[in-house]
Amino acid sequence: MKYPHLFSPITLGNLTYRNRIFASPTGLPMVIPGEFLKRECIAFYEQRAKGGAASVSLGDCIVHTPTGLQHPYKPRLDDPYIISSLAAAARAISRHGAVAALELSHGGKFANNANFVTKTMSTGLPAYGPDEEMTPEGVLIREMPEELINTIVEAYGNAARLAKNMGFGMIVVHGGHGWLLHQFMSPKTNHRKDKFGGSLENRCRFALMALDAVRAAVGKSFPVEFRMSGAEFTPGGYDLEEGVEIAKLVSQKIDLLHVSAGVHDDPDSTVITHPSMFEEHGRNVFLAERIKKAVDCPVATIGALNDPEQMEEIIASGKADVVEMSRALTADPYLPLKAASGREDEIVRCIRCFLCLNQTTSTRNIRCAVNPVIGAELEHAYEPPKAAPGKRVLVVGGGPGGMEAALEAAKRGHDVTLCDDHDRLGGQMLCEEFVPFKREMYGYAGQKQRELEKAGVHIRCGTKVTRQWAEAFKPDILICAAGASPLKPPIPGIDLPNVKDIDDLRKEDNGIGKRVVIIGAGLVGCETAAHLLNLGHEVTILEMLDDYAVDATLWHKQALRQQIIGRADLRLGTRAVEITPEHITAEKDGVREIIPCDTVFCAAGLKPRVDVRNELRGITPYYYELGDCLKPGLLFHAISQGHFIGRDV
Ligand SMILES: Cc1cc2nc3c(=O)[nH]c(=O)nc-3n(C[C@H](O)[C@H](O)[C@H](O)COP(=O)(O)O)c2cc1C
Repeated sequence: MKYPHLFSPITLGNLTYRNRIFASPTGLPMVIPGEFLKRECIAFYEQRAKGGAASVSLGDCIVHTPTGLQHPYKPRLDDPYIISSLAAAARAISRHGAVAALELSHGGKFANNANFVTKTMSTGLPAYGPDEEMTPEGVLIREMPEELINTIVEAYGNAARLAKNMGFGMIVVHGGHGWLLHQFMSPKTNHRKDKFGGSLENRCRFALMALDAVRAAVGKSFPVEFRMSGAEFTPGGYDLEEGVEIAKLVSQKIDLLHVSAGVHDDPDSTVITHPSMFEEHGRNVFLAERIKKAVDCPVATIGALNDPEQMEEIIASGKADVVEMSRALTADPYLPLKAASGREDEIVRCIRCFLCLNQTTSTRNIRCAVNPVIGAELEHAYEPPKAAPGKRVLVVGGGPGGMEAALEAAKRGHDVTLCDDHDRLGGQMLCEEFVPFKREMYGYAGQKQRELEKAGVHIRCGTKVTRQWAEAFKPDILICAAGASPLKPPIPGIDLPNVKDIDDLRKEDNGIGKRVVIIGAGLVGCETAAHLLNLGHEVTILEMLDDYAVDATLWHKQALRQQIIGRADLRLGTRAVEITPEHITAEKDGVREIIPCDTVFCAAGLKPRVDVRNELRGITPYYYELGDCLKPGLLFHAISQGHFIGRDV
């Protein structure tokens, strides 16, 4: 056993958990209000249990709907119609040997009025928080009266009893991330003068009462976890030393203290709660480590963990007793099993693009850029039949979509050949080789290549597939995943040698000079800017639109904002009109300006490789196109299309 500490059992209350990896509370919006958790939602949690996590927690289940609903897509624990689907979820998790956990939550001052993402949610019902206040949107938050506090405390108890009766083996009480109990604990949001405000003991009183109610409902030996933010990372919020004092109080009533970080309503803080790709893995472990020294109960840590070695070290060195993960287990629910069985090189790593969170708010679904099964678990309940006899499949293009299609087709029993005109597989992911914060994305290409080799796919790099070549190959099935190439806008000077694009990022010595002007502040332009700034370049970005990173997910854009604003000279509503070897001419509102620079980096978008598509059409009736060669888009689309087309053929 390579990770003896990570895979050693732990006993909490009356339960022994099979290892130290817990799937942290993850709320999905696939809930029908007044009815039930959808089957897709249950299937998502079930995968985490099948993959080997010791505990799998449902996220943000609301204990008191009239005052607690921070958005409509949350499970309502005081609604009797939820019961059967809750029981189904508990069964789906526990039948694979994991402990089913349920998180009890309440939105507090964010309930019934505004979700920080959508800014739109209003039920018309009043919102209550620790203090009376007026939101920037003009909604009056009322000070929560003591009778209501008592009612909500009772609701915590009722919800815990319901969860236990439905088959859940553990309760997680959410006391972090800026929701109700946290709002009371925080000096930033609680200025009450009664017994629920002022001293730290008073601010923690509500949480302690809720924990007492939970304990009374579930009994002495039933495991109860409390989730807190070790520090708030927001101006006016509590720091780690105050977090330690909070931890000392709550830890006396629980079996596991889960030390998370941050608040959800401060964008700078929420990319610490969910560490962005610009943060170190395990950047919040120090919080748990410090708190563990001050409390007697076991402590869990969380935040961008995905490496079994690192997690083993955390447990072995006593920094924490349990490691929790959300996104890493979305990217690969089988991470625990793969680590336990020495197949770490098969783990698909989360790239921290925030597609998962973004989708929960935009499409009210869950998706993952690198795991096409997420959100489609039910379609995957059964493997498609083996192809018999296997056909001769030719996949053109070894980017993420092509690799995925080739892999799935090979798993079905086809004889698959994958060609790429570059010397390595990976497509645009190869541009990330020298970009430290994109390490995972680059690693994805290598990981897929290993899987392809194991699956027996014939890989032919450095092979340009012409029509003649493809016809001679005589494929039964042809999949074109030829990708896209950088778009060159018709700007005088665009072909000069001082103009670079993403293809140049593939080279370590790419000749990019000190002063760089980037054309285009989309995702590629902004990420390139962040990378070049980190390397010490002086960066100006020209963007014709009035906004930047419009193609980034909301949370990633937030992280990019921290990287770029104040570090680069970002000029919106500005277009490039001419490039020379020494400068670029920019134009805004009809006024032109010469900006001296050494290099111009063109990030004006991508164009599909229509030429390859045109060459390959009509060779076989079983012909498919996917990914960027159809329409440049998200990594998710390429991988998802590749996956399902690979299974179709
Ligand atoms: C899609 C998604 C939904 C989440 N829902 C919840 C939730 O309902 N309750 C909660 O306490 N945390 C929730 N979180 C936060 C995670 O539990 C976790 O703290 C955070 O993602 C950082 O861990 P990670 O880096 O392993 O993803 C959610 C995270 C994601 C990505």
